[in-house]
Amino acid sequence: MQPTAIAYAVIQAIHNVGAGLAFGLAMLLFLKSARGENVKSILWFLLIVWGLQGATGILFGLTSLYFHGAFPQIPLIAQASMGIKVASVALAFFVSAWLLYKKAENVGMKIRLMYITLPVIALIAASVLRWSS
Ligand code: HEM
Repeated sequence: MQPTAIAYAVIQAIHNVGAGLAFGLAMLLFLKSARGENVKSILWFLLIVWGLQGATGILFGLTSLYFHGAFPQIPLIAQASMGIKVASVALAFFVSAWLLYKKAENVGMKIRLMYITLPVIALIAASVLRWSS
């Protein structure tokens, strides 16, 4: 395996596991909140996992820059998909940070649904990104 391929594979592995964790944690948050349990630790994990998604997403770009000297040229639909993913990360990360800052111990239905919906949207965007570029 070439160093470029190894770098992409390692980043992709972390990025894909992160996507699974973002959805899994959202389900856990949903169930625990519904039972009225303290969800502070889950909010911390959500902050870390969404931060990791953003960081590995950026690493994809930096790897291209390092090995190829430029970002990949991708069509408009792929750029839009990327924009959706970046917006999902920004929203989930900001909301998690905000809730932790406010010392929230439980979250309402709208926020629970947001955490479930965002990975679904980002995964759909990832599929479009993958097959349009
Ligand atoms: C800052 C935000 C993000 C950026 C910049 C980003 C960037 C990327 C890039 C460059 C790829 C490789 C695309 C390709 O090789 O075709 C990728 C793949 C992927 N991303 Fe993201 N991503 C972000 C957020 C997310 C999020 C939030 C999720 C899901 C929760 C996600 C899920 C995936 C999956 C599953 C793949 C693999 C797609 C495949 O090859 O089939 N990404 N991402």
